[in-house]
Amino acid sequence: LTASLDLSLQRMHLDYVDIFYAHRWDPNTNLRETAEALDLLVRQGKTLYVGVSNYTAEQTAAIAQIFDELHTPFIGNQVSYNMLNREAETTGLLDVLDAHHAGLIAYGPLAEGLLTDRYLDGIPADFPLHRTNSFIADNREAYVAKLNALNAIAQQRGQTLAQLAMAWLLRDPRVPSIVIGASSVEHLLDNVRVADNMTLSAEELAAIESILND
Ligand SMILES: NC(=O)c1ccc[n+]([C@@H]2O[C@H](COP(=O)([O-])OP(=O)(O)OC[C@H]3O[C@@H](n4cnc5c(N)ncnc54)[C@H](OP(=O)(O)O)[C@@H]3O)[C@@H](O)[C@H]2O)c1
Repeated sequence: LTASLDLSLQRMHLDYVDIFYAHRWDPNTNLRETAEALDLLVRQGKTLYVGVSNYTAEQTAAIAQIFDELHTPFIGNQVSYNMLNREAETTGLLDVLDAHHAGLIAYGPLAEGLLTDRYLDGIPADFPLHRTNSFIADNREAYVAKLNALNAIAQQRGQTLAQLAMAWLLRDPRVPSIVIGASSVEHLLDNVRVADNMTLSAEELAAIESILND
């Protein structure tokens, strides 16, 4: 971890980064050693905050307890979380993070692009689903129906489906940030406009819930 950050800082011509994540759980290393390595990097001024990525609820609780002891500025866990993949809720991960005053940083917030207006007519057989969203593969038609129903709500709000999907994630104070993958300026600009309307009414949330649970 320490060598990889040193090399990254050299390549980026930076003195420090804002957040350094330990990506991912390492079964071969004592957890306290991992936590102490991350803590050391903060003490050395090479990162302001530390995070972890793809840790389960139990693993997050275990390392967060060590960070609490060390007074390490632990900011959160970067995991897959979006409207279609709610594992972070069902496993209790969100609650564990909240209990340690940390947040969930959601990667794949658009389910690799499914939660946009691109797949309303169907999900191609070769669509590259991330392993965390693989459950969609065997049920494409049902998910296309959900995408269209969600898109109708987005349109009523004057938003794109991508903007609705991001507003839905960011409504939860336990989700301080999302990591968007966009390779065009057009998509990036479309996405940042989510900030124009981040409020979801109780009726909208209930309608979304009913579509997702259908
Ligand atoms: N920590 C981890 O283990 C982990 C794992 C996976 C990913 N990540 C990180 O998470 C980030 C996002 O992941 P992701 O790219 O899989 O997920 P994503 O943000 O859910 O989806 C990205 C896809 O959505 C499309 N898209 C974005 N905005 C759009 C818009 N406004 N309209 C239409 N299409 C739009 C993009 O197309 P275009 O490219 O055409 O814009 C791309 O195909 C990545 O930067 C990655 O580094 C982290």
